[in-house]
Amino acid sequence: MDYQEYFKGKRVLVTGGAGAVGSNLVRRLLDLGSFVIVIDNLSSGHSWLLPEDTPNLLFIRGDITSDIDLKRAFNEEPEVVFHLAAFFANQNSVDYPEHDLNTNGLGTLKLLEYSRIYGKIERFVYASSGCSIYPSDAPMPYKEDLPPAVWLSSPYQITKMLGELYGNYYLKMYGIPFAKARFFNSFGPGEVPGQYRNVIPNFIYWAMLGKPLPITGTGEETRDFTYVGDIVDGLLRMGYMKEAVGEAFNLAAGREVKIRYLAEKVNELTENNAGIIFKERRKWDTKPTMLASNEKAKSILGFSPDLYFDRRLMETVEWFRNNWDKIKMSAEFGPGVSSAVR
Ligand SMILES: NC(=O)c1ccc[n+]([C@@H]2O[C@H](COP(=O)([O-])OP(=O)(O)OC[C@H]3O[C@@H](n4cnc5c(N)ncnc54)[C@H](O)[C@@H]3O)[C@@H](O)[C@H]2O)c1
Repeated sequence: MDYQEYFKGKRVLVTGGAGAVGSNLVRRLLDLGSFVIVIDNLSSGHSWLLPEDTPNLLFIRGDITSDIDLKRAFNEEPEVVFHLAAFFANQNSVDYPEHDLNTNGLGTLKLLEYSRIYGKIERFVYASSGCSIYPSDAPMPYKEDLPPAVWLSSPYQITKMLGELYGNYYLKMYGIPFAKARFFNSFGPGEVPGQYRNVIPNFIYWAMLGKPLPITGTGEETRDFTYVGDIVDGLLRMGYMKEAVGEAFNLAAGREVKIRYLAEKVNELTENNAGIIFKERRKWDTKPTMLASNEKAKSILGFSPDLYFDRRLMETVEWFRNNWDKIKMSAEFGPGVSSAVR
């Protein structure tokens, strides 16, 4: 059986399933024939990202810190858990550190605890963050076996690591088949722009409004932008393959893209003539460049990311055009806020 066949008829719980990555994962699972249970409080997700009138999808508008909502979800007898719900992301956690700990810490702990009590979970895949947990002075490309950082520069980075530690504990003490998927800067259709969102949706949004694109730094900074479809594919492989249990895998394209290149490309694709402006780098942003090694995921999981950045960026702009009214209605920026987030 291959990893795609495995999901046919499986009962799969996706926390944060109405989010940017989660909604793409849910669609793919439905295509593979799974019964999908989503628990999402819609704090940064949007119900319109999920398909309507689908008998194999159960949407629970609920919170992963609520026992009532978790009982509702686990009463559906999931066999696989993809835990993607999170208080997203760095700047949000700097502004609201207690909310961050509540969702990313307590929420993750409760999900593991429910998985233990329920006792029939075949795999628990945790959405960790490679961008967050590797120390800023680590040699690049980041490899999975780097020793854990002793200092991290935002509450979000700390709680994403905390989730990994809780999972390791539940694996060792209770045998929960836990696996750590370390994402690197996901992008693609499904991510709605906002004050606390990533740089790509925000650049596209501002460009479509004819505004200049604010780069926080010099533009020479890089990120290992990874197409969301590839992250979903990596998650599915980790949800099935036994080699994933107890292991961490970087789900990354494995190549750097400069922020200035990104801004120029977005302006070109959207025919925006407002140009670029430069702002000060944010204090928590201690990693000017970022590149991950995906060798482990390639060799063990058969992960095979798409390297056509420009084409995927164009598809993302297309998605914005096709969903512009809903995106404009859902994008949340406070008055006066216009700094890029990445
Ligand atoms: N997007 C990235 O580049 C990236 C990079 C590294 C790691 N990750 C991790 O991947 C996961 C998914 O990221 P995303 O980009 O889809 O984020 P997202 O914000 O779009 O999705 C998170 C979802 O969780 C939901 N949620 C938040 N708090 C909740 C709570 N208490 N109870 C129930 N639902 C709650 C939100 O409404 C949202 O739908 C997160 O765990 C994130 O930390 C993402």
